[in-house]
Amino acid sequence: MENKVILSGIQPSGIPTLANYVGALRNWKLLQNGNDCYYCVANMHALTVRQNPDELRERSLSMAALIIAFGIDPVKSPLFIQSDVHQHAELAWVLDCNTYMGELNRMTQFKDKSAKHADNINAGLFTYPVLMAGDILLYQADVVPVGNDQKQHVELARNIAIRFNNAFGETFKVPEPYIPKIGGRVMSLTDPEKKMSKSDPNPNSYISILDDPAVITKKFKRAVTDSEGRIAYEDGRPGMNNLLSIYCSMTGKTMDETLREFDGAGYGTLKTAVADSVIEVIKPVQETYYRVLNDRAELERIIKDGAQRAAETAEKTVDAVYRKVGLR
Ligand code: TYM
Repeated sequence: MENKVILSGIQPSGIPTLANYVGALRNWKLLQNGNDCYYCVANMHALTVRQNPDELRERSLSMAALIIAFGIDPVKSPLFIQSDVHQHAELAWVLDCNTYMGELNRMTQFKDKSAKHADNINAGLFTYPVLMAGDILLYQADVVPVGNDQKQHVELARNIAIRFNNAFGETFKVPEPYIPKIGGRVMSLTDPEKKMSKSDPNPNSYISILDDPAVITKKFKRAVTDSEGRIAYEDGRPGMNNLLSIYCSMTGKTMDETLREFDGAGYGTLKTAVADSVIEVIKPVQETYYRVLNDRAELERIIKDGAQRAAETAEKTVDAVYRKVGLR
């Protein structure tokens, strides 16, 4: 895949987990070679649940530092905070007016999130996939690296793009989701029927990118598996499959290689190996993170530069859209 436009984002709703890395950020880094990438901290998305303003500001900046620590080169790939590029809000409104209630009603994440935040089912939570469609379409992205849980939202972005193009003439590139074959859906360590999530109230359910090595080892040792006693990748064994998938993703090995490596081994051996593989990847990320975060002036400069470069592209799209719909 050469010279495609890549766009992705992450909400600053907590410290990222291993799942965010395996499902998405790992590919953000891999796709940088030979492509034009834009990466954004989706702070406007985070407003769909109540936030403490000072914390939101701080977390947006530390998320940017973490993205750099994960190997994103902000010189090559503009890295920006969503609200610093006002075109995101502008395009979202036009797209809102080209999206049907019925489409949004089908979004499974809306159903999950409104069950979780029953006291605050706001209109933003409902229209959030349209804001996300705008994030993607603003940059004329070809490819959107995400985990499985965002696939439905990328498909909505495709449908909105196609509908808009049909109504107003060719305006948007129609994007494709890019989901890892192994690790597209990393599961909770305490309840492997559920996905791993940075907003889970139980910290043992996820590996935070900033967890200490000893904590990572402890969490994997306690990870819920099953009583089959055999290491194999099989239907109906979500805990086991999850550990194997994480190991493949961390080491770059195929599932076959991994299964051969652990042939005849016990669960304890596998769990230790998975923990070690995760620690090896995460340790340098943590070191870089603290270094980047401590040079606050430089980090703020990077974010400002990213927003300026992103806005140049975004404005071209908003200008075309505003002209087509009769706003300009
Ligand atoms: P967010 O912040 O929830 O998650 C960031 C990325 O991590 C992936 N992910 C997972 N992958 C595998 N297994 C899991 N358990 C898991 N949990 C999360 C997500 O799929 C995502 O790729 N709406 C988005 C952020 C966003 C965005 C965008 C993404 C805003 N604008 C434009 C792509 C394009 C979100 O809430 O992701």
